Amino acid sequence: MAYKIAVMAGDGTGPEVMVEAVKVMKAAEAKFGFSCDYTEFDFGGERYMKTGETLPDSAVEELRGFDSILLGAIGHPDVAPGILEKGILLKARFALDQYINLRPVRLFPGVETPLKDKGPAEIDYVVVRENSGDLYTGTGGISMKGTPNEVAVQSAVYNRFQVDRCLKYAFEYARKHGKKARGVGKENTLGLVGKTNVLTYIYDLWERAFNEMGEKEYGDIRRDYYHVDACCMWMVKSPEWFDVLVTGNMFGDIITDLGAITQGGMGLAAGGNINPEGVSMFEPIGGSAPKYTGQGVINPLACICAGGMLLETLGEEKAANAIEEAVKFVTANKMKSMAAGRMGHSTSEVGDLVAEKLADL
Ligand code: IPM
Ligand code: MN
Repeated sequence: MAYKIAVMAGDGTGPEVMVEAVKVMKAAEAKFGFSCDYTEFDFGGERYMKTGETLPDSAVEELRGFDSILLGAIGHPDVAPGILEKGILLKARFALDQYINLRPVRLFPGVETPLKDKGPAEIDYVVVRENSGDLYTGTGGISMKGTPNEVAVQSAVYNRFQVDRCLKYAFEYARKHGKKARGVGKENTLGLVGKTNVLTYIYDLWERAFNEMGEKEYGDIRRDYYHVDACCMWMVKSPEWFDVLVTGNMFGDIITDLGAITQGGMGLAAGGNINPEGVSMFEPIGGSAPKYTGQGVINPLACICAGGMLLETLGEEKAANAIEEAVKFVTANKMKSMAAGRMGHSTSEVGDLVAEKLADL
């Protein structure tokens, strides 16, 4: 039986990187003996400008029938900021209740990091970003707009259920994929990233839930806590301290961009919007890079890695590991730089190199 994969290539360089991700996934199918049916959807800026449609409810219903979704990039220079992001990306995340945003921060061999004296052994952790609550719920509003007394309120919202389900995922993830489980450390560690010194409602809830769950069910997992501001400091100075981090939606958004630049930039950062009981969506987290569109110079590795994460979530772990191995081989041996236009290869050549290596593994 074939997996049903929805492909939303989206805007800008999304379609170019998507071609390479699908190429590599097909190579993995051939090697590991499973198959995927790819169905393309054209949601994005172009369609919005023609039809006024972002991601209609009928499309959300259709997407529920797929095993997984691969997304290229959302964001168009001719569409006002927020419309496509909220109308497509956030709509899919919320409507499909993809309550986990899993973002590995891993430096691959041969990739340059701006962090002095740090290599792949030091930059090797995962951020579990809660993906359904916080400032992203849109709770709030503007009153007296345009007057000198204008007031804007936007609230961070969490309930215990949202926090608990995210923590459970994070603890389980740490048990299965933490540094001890992977044989690269003595302990499996989950670090909560919060702001308990100021956000005394939201992160009080998170901290209590974290400690209660940890004590009761995950005594084997070491628990750490970081204030988010200090966490940013340590992500630069001592990334080797981290194993699995868990945090709310807004902090998770911010710290994963910092994490991405430490792993070599947006050309390499992949993430998954995961509903462990439903339909998940995987994406390179870098955006649509409009200025590079259509030139064949954008780095497809993030989208290729997103495809690998997708296969892992479907249970095709061997294929996922092989994709990661092939990508590592290519970064270590074949590429001059990870930056668009400076890779020493075109976008499609990078895809070819990964697919060829994968076939040879
Ligand atoms: C991300 C992006 C999105 C977010 C935007 C585009 C809505 O920054 O995936 O990190 O804030 O989650
Ligand atoms: Mn972001």
